[in-house]
Amino acid sequence: MYVFFKFGFDDFVLQYLKDKVMEPAVNGTKNVIMAAAEAKVRRVVFTSSIGTVYMDPNRSPDVVVDESCWSDLEYCKNTKNWYCYGKTVAEQDAWDVARNKGVDLVVVNPVVVLGPLLQPTVNASILHILKYLTGSAKTYANAVQAYVHVRDVAVAHILVFETPSASGRYICFEKMLHRGEVVEILAKFFPEYPIPTKCSDEKNPRKQNYKLTNQKIKDLGIEFVPVKQCLYETVKSLQEKGILPIPKHVEDSVNIQ
Ligand SMILES: NC(=O)c1ccc[n+]([C@@H]2O[C@H](COP(=O)([O-])OP(=O)(O)OC[C@H]3O[C@@H](n4cnc5c(N)ncnc54)[C@H](OP(=O)(O)O)[C@@H]3O)[C@@H](O)[C@H]2O)c1
Repeated sequence: MYVFFKFGFDDFVLQYLKDKVMEPAVNGTKNVIMAAAEAKVRRVVFTSSIGTVYMDPNRSPDVVVDESCWSDLEYCKNTKNWYCYGKTVAEQDAWDVARNKGVDLVVVNPVVVLGPLLQPTVNASILHILKYLTGSAKTYANAVQAYVHVRDVAVAHILVFETPSASGRYICFEKMLHRGEVVEILAKFFPEYPIPTKCSDEKNPRKQNYKLTNQKIKDLGIEFVPVKQCLYETVKSLQEKGILPIPKHVEDSVNIQ
């Protein structure tokens, strides 16, 4: 009975996510490009995602993942990864509409965006870090992920907008880390939190970084904030916003100094 309920609920959540993500991502993007065509805007810069680039289980680990790579829609669908599915369909549609309507489209494909929060709520990328500080994640996954500072994502958008020769897609990241490296960095800066020290996967070898390149955006002159600083600033911002409580003994020791 419990299992039935759990699966039913998960399906409901997945359907909800599918509707919530797909509709604004796909139709919203198309509408914006069409409106831009009508208004004859000079250039449209579209925030896509690395999720439109790397989700392809058949890609050899030796292949350099660059702007020519696309996520496999069937794989996204079969794994119910509606975020990557929605963003991929949205970006592909954006390119189609832009070509048909003669819009000068340039796309930024950021990885997980970190750094200080502007918004009062926690989004998925911030939760990715927050869970390691609150004690809700008891272990870390055997997985790798690339990261970028939110200010660099903003800089990338300005650069591709202002550089006349900019065209196509721009993968935007500073560095890729294994989750084990993420928790090590967090623990060095913030030892006061219950940061996991064990990997959830003790059987398989540690996942290696895949070959993702940021050369194209670097050629436009961007200098990325180091990932360690991104992680530091993310946690500081969570503390300043009151989302992540500062442990009492640490607060007291700060007051004494
Ligand atoms: N965060 C990342 O790590 C990351 C990585 C790669 C790409 N991206 C892309 O960057 C963009 C922003 O991501 P984010 O993480 O900043 O997202 P976010 O914090 O969840 O913010 C999403 C924004 O979209 C607005 N929005 C959501 N549904 C909408 C709708 N139906 N109509 C109009 N506005 C709607 C929200 O408005 P309200 O504030 O009113 O709810 C909010 O301002 C997205 O396109 C995302 O795919 C993000």
